[in-house]
Amino acid sequence: MRLMRPVDLTRDRRRLLALDRSFVTERVQRVVRTDVSFSLEDMPIDPPLRKDLPLEYDLGEARTWEDGFVAEFDDEIIGFAAWSHEAWNRRTVLWHLYVAARHRGNGIGGAFVSLVADQARVAGMRAVWLETSSVNSPAIAFYRRQGFTLCGLDLSLYDPAGSAPGEAALYFVLPLESTIMPTAVRMEQK
Ligand SMILES: CC(C)(COP(=O)(O)OP(=O)(O)OC[C@H]1O[C@@H](n2cnc3c(N)ncnc32)[C@H](O)[C@@H]1OP(=O)(O)O)[C@@H](O)C(=O)NCCC(=O)NCCS
Repeated sequence: MRLMRPVDLTRDRRRLLALDRSFVTERVQRVVRTDVSFSLEDMPIDPPLRKDLPLEYDLGEARTWEDGFVAEFDDEIIGFAAWSHEAWNRRTVLWHLYVAARHRGNGIGGAFVSLVADQARVAGMRAVWLETSSVNSPAIAFYRRQGFTLCGLDLSLYDPAGSAPGEAALYFVLPLESTIMPTAVRMEQK
């Protein structure tokens, strides 16, 4: 049976690190720039590119995220999402989202996005925001399918020494139609 529950780092750490977080892609988004503009071009690549997404660096005391959920199936962790709410701009940052390769395409990633969006609404956030790589075309297609739109990019975030050629950071946002009015707005309307 599949179960989604809050992560318990003490108990889950080993199985979390065993979760397959890699992706393979035959297409990448190439950033085309002029002095005053950027655009993205969807391009085939040959051979396909495979990347592993690191996680261990962000499981310690100084981790970036505050809340996380795992999906479990038959005692195996098959999915993980982790996020934090940023009070100053009322944005939830989705730091991690992975579904084990052989469980992809079954709605688990979408269920995680719904969960994070629900948690964000309850916390009074106005949007969910994330960073992904311009070579991670499968994730980009997935996020767009979930309603995220591109809201920015950074050509200098990744160190070229450890990145794929031309790899850039892309930022995506999912605005939330909030049913819970933030305190500041409620007070102004009184
Ligand atoms: C991206 C990822 C989390 C998606 O999880 P998933 O469980 O396969 O996604 P779902 O099955 O919930 O898919 C939801 C929707 O997105 C679409 N989608 C998912 N992957 C897609 C892809 N590669 N290309 C096009 N559409 C895709 C599905 O078709 C589905 O559409 P539907 O609502 O019309 O049925 C998963 O592929 C993954 O873990 N990838 C490797 C790690 C990674 O890149 N994480 C993101 C780091 S920023």
